[in-house]
Parts: sequence; structure tokens; C-alpha cells
Amino acid sequence: MTSESFPIEVEQRGSVIIWAIDREERRNSLSRPLLLSLGKLAREATTNPSVRAIVLTGKGDKAFCAGADLKERSLMTENDIRAQLTLYRSELGLIDRSPKPVVAALNGAALGGGLELALVCDLRVAAAHATLGLPETSLGIIPGAGGTQRLPRIVGEARAKEMILLGRKLTAAEALAWGLVNRVTPAGIHVVDDALALIEPIANGAPIAQAAALEAVDRSFDVALEVGLELEKLAYDKVLVSEDRREALSAFAEKRKPVFRGC
Ligand code: COA
Repeated sequence: MTSESFPIEVEQRGSVIIWAIDREERRNSLSRPLLLSLGKLAREATTNPSVRAIVLTGKGDKAFCAGADLKERSLMTENDIRAQLTLYRSELGLIDRSPKPVVAALNGAALGGGLELALVCDLRVAAAHATLGLPETSLGIIPGAGGTQRLPRIVGEARAKEMILLGRKLTAAEALAWGLVNRVTPAGIHVVDDALALIEPIANGAPIAQAAALEAVDRSFDVALEVGLELEKLAYDKVLVSEDRREALSAFAEKRKPVFRGC
């Protein structure tokens, strides 16, 4: 059961947990309770050994997330908005740094904070009708949940500026061509099912290796190459001592599929 104070439907399918934002009447926009709920779920998932990966989506087919809840925003003071920006950083940061891979299943528009929410995910799958954009400057503001920093890292400076300064919205096909989404879901398949199929190798994979790889790749954006290579070495050490690494070698020798236990 979802409520205005916890507007996310949670469903576990095997080792994957699905979070579906349930504010369709406001196009799944980011209210303060939604942000806090996302943070709570991200904290819980990190320590839940039965969860290997996360799919984040929205209810309905209109919007993944229409950005900041503009009705809530209109009642906020300047200080309330500053506090909200801090909350974006802390709560969405938990998803960004999640040791379990997170895939955004874009069931519709991902605009403003909605696209920024998708940008903190590791992978993005889009329904063919989804649209992606950062229209903030057309509203007299700028992206405030990491968009100015994460978008250029993914699509490059020129394309990020095109989206941010012109408020250009991309179709799913354009977003695929720009590398902003990993995949566009074929007709007749639901985007969540498509995302689940895409991450099947993660759901059955070696969690220590996945977490170590994620950490190494994520840190690569923050540091010089030499430092990054050192971080990769440290991350490698975590898999080197794992049972899962030995299991993969045994499985290869025995011509069978490895069974990873995350230890
Ligand atoms: N915050 C709060 N409410 C929102 C919202 C938002 N960001 N986006 C949509 N809604 C509400 C609308 O006000 C409307 O409510 P009402 O029925 O009380 O009038 C309801 O959701 C449906 O909106 P509507 O525009 O009719 O839906 P749609 O399916 O035709 O279009 C969108 C969906 C997402 C394309 C469109 O709503 C939109 O562009 N929203 C604004 C997105 C935006 O600019 N976000 C950036 C914020 S920085």
C-alpha cells in the first residue's frame, strides 16, 4: 500500500526489487515525501542480502517522473527550496552510490528532476514513447539535482548544453543515439519487463564483483587516471579474495554455470 507520505510501490521479483513511483495524478513528480521514501528504500536495499539489483520506474504510461512537484514548490520559501536541494543531493546520492546496480525503466516522460533521477541510475531503458529533457532554464531555474554535472558526463558537454540551454526534449530513439539510454523497449513489451530481461545477468551474477566494478567506474569520474588505476587495484582486491571468484573458476573447469553466493 502506498500513501502520500510513502508514494512508492515496492515489489520483489526474485533477487530484483522494483520501485514504482505511485503519484500518477501528479505525473510521479518529486515531492519531499517521495525523495525521503527513495532514500529510505535505497538504505534498506544496500543492506538486504536478498536484493541484487533495483528497477526504478513510475506508475502509468505518461511519466516516469515529471520533475519537481511544482504544486508543492509553489508553497515553498527560498529556504525550503535550499533544503530540498540538499535533500536531492543526500537522498539521490544514495541511489547514485548504491552498491547494487539500479536501472531506470522510463515508462514515460523523464523531465527536469525526473531525468536527474534517471541519471543517478546505472542503466536506463526507455519505452518508445518516453521523452527526456531538462527544461529548467525555461522555468527561470537550473537543474538542481545534479543534472548540470551528470548529464555532460554521459552525453558530453555540447549535447548537455543543447539540452539544458535550449530546453530540448529528446525522444527515446534520440536518447539512444546520444547514449543517454541503453535501450529502447520494442513494441509489445512493457518497459519494466524489458529492464528485468536486460539485467538478468546482474540478477544471477556475482554481487561482490558487480559492487566492486560499479565503485571503480563511478570513481573514475572524480580522479586522475593514475589515482583511478590505483582505485581499480583496490577494488580488484575485493574480488580476489571472494569465494565467488573461485566458484567461477571451478564452474569453468567443470563446464557448468557458476552459482554465486556473494561471499
Ligand atoms: N508537479 C506537479 N504536478 C504536475 C507536474 C509537476 N511537475 N507535472 C504534471 N503535473 C500535474 C498537472 O498539474 C496535472 O494536474 P491537474 O490534473 O490537477 O491539472 C496532472 O499532473 C496531469 O498533467 P498533464 O500535463 O495534463 O499530463 P500529461 O500526461 O498531458 O503530460 C507531462 C505529462 C509530464 C509531459 C506534463 O505534465 C509536463 O510537462 N509536466 C511538467 C514537467 C516539467 O516542466 N518539469 C520540470 C520541473 S523543473
